[in-house]
Amino acid sequence: MSAITFKAVNPSTVASQQNFDVMEIENEFCRAVITRQGAQILSFERKIKSAETDVVDVKSLLWCSELSLQQFLDDLKSDRKTKAIRGGIPLCFPWFGGHLTDAKLPSHGFARTQLWDLTSVDQSAQGHQLVFTLQNDAITDLFWHHQFRLTLSMTCGEHLHLVLGIENVGDTDFDCEFAWHSYFPLNAIESVKIDGLQGKKFLDQLTNETYVQEHAQIQFDQETDRIYQDVAGNYQIHDGLQQIDIQTKNCKSAIVWNPWIKKTQRLEDVDAQAWQKFVCLECANVRENRLHIKAGQSDQFSMVIF
Ligand code: BG6
Repeated sequence: MSAITFKAVNPSTVASQQNFDVMEIENEFCRAVITRQGAQILSFERKIKSAETDVVDVKSLLWCSELSLQQFLDDLKSDRKTKAIRGGIPLCFPWFGGHLTDAKLPSHGFARTQLWDLTSVDQSAQGHQLVFTLQNDAITDLFWHHQFRLTLSMTCGEHLHLVLGIENVGDTDFDCEFAWHSYFPLNAIESVKIDGLQGKKFLDQLTNETYVQEHAQIQFDQETDRIYQDVAGNYQIHDGLQQIDIQTKNCKSAIVWNPWIKKTQRLEDVDAQAWQKFVCLECANVRENRLHIKAGQSDQFSMVIF
């Protein structure tokens, strides 16, 4: 089976490639759900066929809060302003976390709440390939006075493959940060181990202290919020039952976040047990690894998840 379905949630809009809220993709390799807001992939289920029995097993590679998704759909239906959806892979740009000089500006930038354009859809033997773009306009200019074009190419095949291009289309240089704020699903947070960050320096955002990752694997027994710098960019998340692999190019930072019990209670868009169900491992270029993009130049970043 191979299909793309475009859905316009608000009944007053007509579903078409340029006027959709949510799209669903299915092909022989995977099923995926993507919103036009943020060009955000919310769900990616890989189909794994057993060579002996032909039985297809489904491996879910992303977690999404059902409550947050429902709030988003309800806001769309009622023409209310939508919020960032907590789940899948929101893209943080052009800054990560709170804005450094103006606390009123949106946390993690504006790219995750803007409507992107779907500029091409292709299907090949490798699966579906989509390209989304976001350019500066009157809205982004309210937050950030730079001329830019983001191009996010998304291949939904045997693996999920994202390539982000950040282009400076203006005539002055700019600095920016970005993060693929990926939410990965877990069977049990207590059994989770993340490989790939040993020996790397990190800022603990809870204490504001800097440390070096001594243990080969990161494990969780409390709220964790760390920014790692100068990383190699390849990781494995094990949770006792399954392993998720993440391979990146040109992503020099990583953020590891789990809100644990109390912070989860303060989040309005997840259920009280959500801390046991996801970990964020964000592939990024932030803080000391922030980007400097010269006028007329561009830079490219990629991430493969399987
Ligand atoms: C993480 C940050 O990337 O995102 C955390 O390191 C933050 O500090 C978390 O709490 C969630 O952010 P938000 O804006 O999506 O609630």
